[in-house]
Amino acid sequence: MPISFDRAADFYDNTRTLAPEVSERLTAEILRLGRATPNTTFFEPGIGTGRIALPIVERGFAYTGVDVSEAMMDKLRQKLEGKAHRLRLINADATALPLEDNSFDVAIAPHILHLIADWQTAMDELRRVLKPSGVFIYFHHPTNKTASRDAIGRQWREILLGYGYDSGFTGGVTEDVLDRLQEQGATLETVVVADLSRESTVDSLMRAYRDRIYSNMWRVPDDIYPRALADLEAWAAQEFPDPNQPIASQDNISLTAAYHWAG
Ligand SMILES: C[S@@+](CC[C@H](N)C(=O)[O-])C[C@H]1O[C@@H](n2cnc3c(N)ncnc32)[C@H](O)[C@@H]1O
Repeated sequence: MPISFDRAADFYDNTRTLAPEVSERLTAEILRLGRATPNTTFFEPGIGTGRIALPIVERGFAYTGVDVSEAMMDKLRQKLEGKAHRLRLINADATALPLEDNSFDVAIAPHILHLIADWQTAMDELRRVLKPSGVFIYFHHPTNKTASRDAIGRQWREILLGYGYDSGFTGGVTEDVLDRLQEQGATLETVVVADLSRESTVDSLMRAYRDRIYSNMWRVPDDIYPRALADLEAWAAQEFPDPNQPIASQDNISLTAAYHWAG
């Protein structure tokens, strides 16, 4: 079953928004790596609310996005209401695209392949719909299978393992995707667009677990979640008696462009 973000549509943008200057730099890098001209056509599986797509669509480019969540795409439609644009949205699964071969100049996969168990098929589909001269742009945080960027995340994973549940991503993470691209003969160029490392407080990090914000939290079985959360609360109270204590969280935005992949 694909991981639809229907349940996140109302809060997704609040938890993932990029600062305007970061979004600006990200868009400029996508256009540069994609060697965009006014005629360049874009494709994005798992387009969501258009966090990445919207600035490109607003620059007038032709853009096609698919998603299994109509609610996420509705948020994007609302943002474009009353504006002229060349965005086409399709409700479809990234592993079975209802699209012709050799259709697009640039395919972007931001924050999607780690969610798809059969990520290799999703990559095959991306490659199929790219033109032979096309560029694939993979957008990733420095994610690994364990999906933990800070001390609380690491403890959460340990607790869940104690209940017999592995909270790691089921899909392809950065290492998997880049290895596959190289095996398939692509030439890669990676740029770090922004360092998003920051200090959060214990309380704000704990809130994400209480509110079950991220998709790797949704997947935890409901009978385990409350018990694991109680264990995490008890551990955090002991480890960090001050809820305002800062916790370092490591993150950055990197783009990898793959050339000569589809050709
Ligand atoms: C983490 S969000 C990323 C959205 C957007 N790409 C971004 O970076 O903000 C993942 C999106 O992929 C969609 N999704 C998950 N699995 C999918 C699949 N197999 N096919 C198509 N969309 C999928 C979800 O519904 C969600 O909207």
